[in-house]
Amino acid sequence: MLLGLCLVMTACSEKKREYKIGVSQCSEDIWRNWQNSEMKMEANFHEGIELCFTAAFDDSQRQIEQIDSLVDSGIDLLIVAPNQLSSVTPAIDRAFDKGIPVIVFERKTDSKKYTAFVSADNYEMGHQMGGYIVIRLSGKGKVLELLGLKGSSPADDRHRGFIDAIKTSFVEVPITLQGDWTEDRAYEEVKNYKGSLDDIDLVFAHNDRSAIGARRAFIERGIDPLPLFCGIDGLPGENGGIQQVRDSLLEASYIYPTRGDLLLQLALDILDGKPYQHETVLTSAIVTHDNANVLLLESNEVLRQAQNLDKLQAKAKGYLEQLATQRTITLMSLILLVLLILVLVLFYLYHRNKVKVQRERMVNNLWNMEVPEAVEQTAESVQQPAEGEAASEKETTTDDAEVAKEPLFIVRFKDVVESHLSDSDITVDDLAAEMNLSRVQLYRKVKAISGSSPNELLRTARLNRGYQLLLTTDKNISEVAYEVGFTAPSYFTKCFKDEFGVSPSDLNQS
Ligand code: FRU
Repeated sequence: MLLGLCLVMTACSEKKREYKIGVSQCSEDIWRNWQNSEMKMEANFHEGIELCFTAAFDDSQRQIEQIDSLVDSGIDLLIVAPNQLSSVTPAIDRAFDKGIPVIVFERKTDSKKYTAFVSADNYEMGHQMGGYIVIRLSGKGKVLELLGLKGSSPADDRHRGFIDAIKTSFVEVPITLQGDWTEDRAYEEVKNYKGSLDDIDLVFAHNDRSAIGARRAFIERGIDPLPLFCGIDGLPGENGGIQQVRDSLLEASYIYPTRGDLLLQLALDILDGKPYQHETVLTSAIVTHDNANVLLLESNEVLRQAQNLDKLQAKAKGYLEQLATQRTITLMSLILLVLLILVLVLFYLYHRNKVKVQRERMVNNLWNMEVPEAVEQTAESVQQPAEGEAASEKETTTDDAEVAKEPLFIVRFKDVVESHLSDSDITVDDLAAEMNLSRVQLYRKVKAISGSSPNELLRTARLNRGYQLLLTTDKNISEVAYEVGFTAPSYFTKCFKDEFGVSPSDLNQS
């Protein structure tokens, strides 16, 4: 299971890309938080970056499991600060061997299996701090050294640098304790130290947090005057090392740059296949009473700008979201409108079809049945409206009038057709001529009213007559076929079957 926090960052500046970047931190503390927020801030400027953060709380086994989980979750790149040099290395190697680019930062690994390494020079830091301490103690004094976590590379490097810097002086280190990078551990170690601490002139802690923990313990032990306290990290902001130096809680600190922005930019360069630096050494500087005030002012100003930028970004994000919502609403309205139009069109088509079917049924009824007197009369009255009805006739629309005339037209057409039933040579042109219409006009009108072509109606009429003749006369099938205009009895039989579902012979045995 991946114990961490994944954040998806989107911005609208660059080309589309989707990168999942795993960040495996060895600890969780003010320094790591600072760095993580720098990475998040930088990610805000790019599109499609998912950042997955894990923190191992100074536990190497836990970090190994977290790295494996990150790899299993499908990260495209791993940024890692190994808790301890050798124990975490196999997990990093595994990620690298799977083809995942690895950026090791600030704490080293045991192998060369990484894509890039970023760190300030920890040996140099210890060395510079040693040099400062020698000067501050005027070349002579007793120092308590609070070491960082055993096996983590900055602890080893800072220690070596410090020892190298003091070895030509009369500064000695009679007491060395484990601070393990944490305030609490340093506090406990100093508080529970069995020997005397009275003659300690200065505490050199490998980071500011353990320096502050040690200071607390010295106070609790009632040691007066307090020794001087030096640390490393020199963070900006509230309760950061710079402020602690300005407020004389610390004598000196050393800026250990976080540079989360640089780490993320490097990650993107690697993922985008751009050129990048294999090893990056970050520059840093000592913080003393001489420069703490200026550094604090400057770092606060940078912080203020960053906060403004954050606000601006949040605002821009808000606008973008608003825009997206508006777009969605417009799109939904459009879809609704289209659906409405579709429903209306469907309703119209359905209605038209219903009317058409009704008309066709009516026409077919007229066609197949003997025309009742009433219809004939209706038809005639439509053709010649009575005088009293003339006014209301005028009020009906052209369409209504046309529709009203349809039965009459069909009745007339039926008369014409029936008078030629026995004529096998009769053509649609002949029928049209008798109706005073062109062939095309007749076709269109008949088709529109009945849904069938004139030829189809002619054939239906022939078959209907044939049916009657077979039922009511003694004529045989051939005689009937010829009488209703078929030239071949076999074809008559076929059409008859298609039309009525029974064979003519079923009706007539002669
Ligand atoms: C942060 C930290 C710093 C220290 C560094 C050493 O987790 O403990 O305080 O300088 O790590 O790696």
